[in-house]
Amino acid sequence: MTTRLTKAVIPAAGLGTRFLPATKAMPKEMLPVVDKPAIQYVVEEAVQNGLTDVLMITGRNKNALENHFDSVPELESALELKGDQTKLLTVTQPADLADMHYVRQGAPRGLGHAVLRAQMHVGDNPFAVLLGDDLIDERDNVLGPMIAAHKKHDASVIALMEIPKDLTDHYGIATVESVGEGDLVRILDLVEKPAPEDAPSNLAIIGRYVLKPDIFEVLDQTLPGKGNEIQLTDALRHMATNNIAGGVYGYIFRGRRYDTGDKLDYIKAIVRLALQREDLGPLLEQWLDVESHRRK
Ligand code: G1P
Repeated sequence: MTTRLTKAVIPAAGLGTRFLPATKAMPKEMLPVVDKPAIQYVVEEAVQNGLTDVLMITGRNKNALENHFDSVPELESALELKGDQTKLLTVTQPADLADMHYVRQGAPRGLGHAVLRAQMHVGDNPFAVLLGDDLIDERDNVLGPMIAAHKKHDASVIALMEIPKDLTDHYGIATVESVGEGDLVRILDLVEKPAPEDAPSNLAIIGRYVLKPDIFEVLDQTLPGKGNEIQLTDALRHMATNNIAGGVYGYIFRGRRYDTGDKLDYIKAIVRLALQREDLGPLLEQWLDVESHRRK
């Protein structure tokens, strides 16, 4: 029997060096995507999928994260006095979303190490891991089918997406076999960030995982891998190839994903999400049109 899945772990201890100097004194997770910090989209996605207990793995410089998901009495009463209910809601909403917890990673020893820091909080329960650089369009759902597959097979499930072959060195890449259940596959092997010529496929791990707690014991034994960091991909590979706790399944996501981890992709994410907004979309589209003609 599977235990209820209510816990989400969000690693947020990265240094954000790709966005310096913006991230000198502010965590990269707080960078706005249109008008919400990137991390809020991720917490909202967790909550929409029933994961109301959120543990963030943070580091130094991350106080803004805790403040964002807390109340701000002086700002709230100022907005109340003004009678500005709309703005008041945007301020109170993040604090009301989930039951937030924080633990610091300490030494930055990789994603696998960050996830291992969740062991005390998660205990003997299955849990989800959501990486903040990957935003999933709220009209598409990746965690829902992953949670269903986890319940059905009592195994860990990771999200995969087809990517252009020349980008394999940005991702964990999977070797899979069909299980005859639509977009669900069985993971046979995984490799972290292979060069395109060494990549076994173009199926990349995107930052959503539903994991059985057995991963902790494996992570604890996982030696540093790519980049001399403890890789979550390596621990999952061990679970898959040794069929630990039911092995690992992959769910091939075919919806809209926005990458905010890279400068160009971050700008694209903002433009795409702004184009979908009633208040900004039409005017932005007009402007983009004029701008692209002007530059020809
Ligand atoms: C991490 C994982 C990688 C995965 C990627 C998804 O890499 O190690 O396997 O494909 O997230 O975004 P990072 O982007 O943190 O270097």
